[in-house]
Amino acid sequence: MMKLIMFGPPGAGKGTQADILGRRYGIKKISTGDALRDVIRSGSELGEQVKDLMDQGKFVPDEIVTEIIRDRVSSPDCANGFILDGFPRNLAQAEALVDMGIKVNKALLIDVPDEVLVDRVQGRVMCDKCGASYHLKNNPPAVEGVGDKCGGHLEARSDDRPETVRARLKVYHELTDPVVDFYRNRGVLSEIDGTASIENATAEILKILEG
Ligand code: AP5
Repeated sequence: MMKLIMFGPPGAGKGTQADILGRRYGIKKISTGDALRDVIRSGSELGEQVKDLMDQGKFVPDEIVTEIIRDRVSSPDCANGFILDGFPRNLAQAEALVDMGIKVNKALLIDVPDEVLVDRVQGRVMCDKCGASYHLKNNPPAVEGVGDKCGGHLEARSDDRPETVRARLKVYHELTDPVVDFYRNRGVLSEIDGTASIENATAEILKILEG
């Protein structure tokens, strides 16, 4: 059973690569970011609180994201394995995964310098219906403004404004950098150059996973 973690700074390409790997291996991507955007779309009071935190570039409380993961990993569609996209993001979340009895095969760190990321995410657009992500230059949809998968409307993410991306990067370096050593010390960390094209980054990951 393949259990992968995909982590790295905002806009590094975690979601893009997790989608590609999920299709290749027939396993589910579990994205805490996507799950939280679903909570926001539900229009609940919790959704409003989550949106407020995300738009400031802050983390959502550990209990909320950990519960999302606990619920998803035990569902039948994850019986063949899963790819965690964006979890764990701090040491407490990494420990929570251990407490759930989940032993990961590989933690894939996609690394990209901060300056490249602030620029890159300005080109990102996301489907308002299914959450699929595109890039106006690097991964454009077939028809401008329309999602390939479900025909939804494509729009920029509200947390992709340059000042919010800088805040997200600051939080990433403070809280997620230590998670790199957590997995390095357990011998499951592999680093990928996320400045390469999407195809080349995938090729690097496949070399790590398949030799
Ligand atoms: P989340 O949605 O997970 O955001 P993130 O981690 O900041 O990552 P992104 O989704 O921005 O980027 P990505 O690495 O997936 O890149 P993508 O593939 O889209 O989380 C959002 C928020 O939710 C957080 O800020 C936090 O508030 C909260 N949250 C989530 N998880 C949490 C947790 N565990 N704990 C607490 N709070 C949590 O690619 C980006 C763009 O670049 C796309 O347009 C893509 O087409 C393009 N692209 C991808 N790869 C390449 C490439 N190699 N070259 C050029 N362009 C590329």
